[in-house]
Amino acid sequence: MQGIVRGLRWIQHPQLFAVFVVLCLLVAAWGHFVQARPLEQATPAPQIKGIATIRTPMPQVDCAARACVALTFDDGPDSTVTPAILDILARHQVTATFFVVGREIAGREHVLRRIHQQGSEIGNHSWNHPDFTALSPAGMQNEWQRTQAAIVAAGVPAPRLFRPPYGAVNAMVRSQVPLAIARWDVDTEDWMTHDPTKIADHMVRDVRPGSIILLHDKYAATTEALDWAISVLKQQYQLVTVSQLLAIQEGDQGQYFHRGGDPW
Ligand code: NI
Repeated sequence: MQGIVRGLRWIQHPQLFAVFVVLCLLVAAWGHFVQARPLEQATPAPQIKGIATIRTPMPQVDCAARACVALTFDDGPDSTVTPAILDILARHQVTATFFVVGREIAGREHVLRRIHQQGSEIGNHSWNHPDFTALSPAGMQNEWQRTQAAIVAAGVPAPRLFRPPYGAVNAMVRSQVPLAIARWDVDTEDWMTHDPTKIADHMVRDVRPGSIILLHDKYAATTEALDWAISVLKQQYQLVTVSQLLAIQEGDQGQYFHRGGDPW
């Protein structure tokens, strides 16, 4: 007994007691960490790590009152063509959807902010524009998440839409990209013809209620086709964003929207 009391005498020294308490806390914390590990493993990691989002509701439109169509511009942002297109959209007081490629964003963040400020929508069109059906799941995750992060870092809302490069989609792509997948039914072939007359002709001749029109904010010819084609389309249709056209809500995931009779 004497021995035990003598052994505990160090407790009377405040410094030694403080060290003892700190050691107890460290042991307790370590025990908690070890116990918590299996729990962490059991909980799946969040889908989008470290990507903050700005939630901005898009004004609803009534496409039953007047038919809607959506203009979409892929492969930008471009330093000259995208602003020129935005000028035309602003003049006509219409909006569109821009599916941007992540690697094109650096140095053009202000273009993304202008798209958003004008009420147009920004969609995700991958980082490097690969065919997703040829990628591994990890490759797909890297492509869409990197672009999502770059768009958000530019100060605009996180896209709710994904347009797969070349429109290439299969079940694996759909399972890996948790955004609404948006394709098109009117291909203006602007990337092929570079002919403003042919591009405008496709826009007004192939269109029908609910159409999604594929264009690219890459070519001067596309810009030249727009003014006249929008004037004609406006006589019959509301020109809206893809999310407005399809009533896509924030968080709609893995859905597949198309208007072209595709087997998917
Ligand atoms: Ni593309």
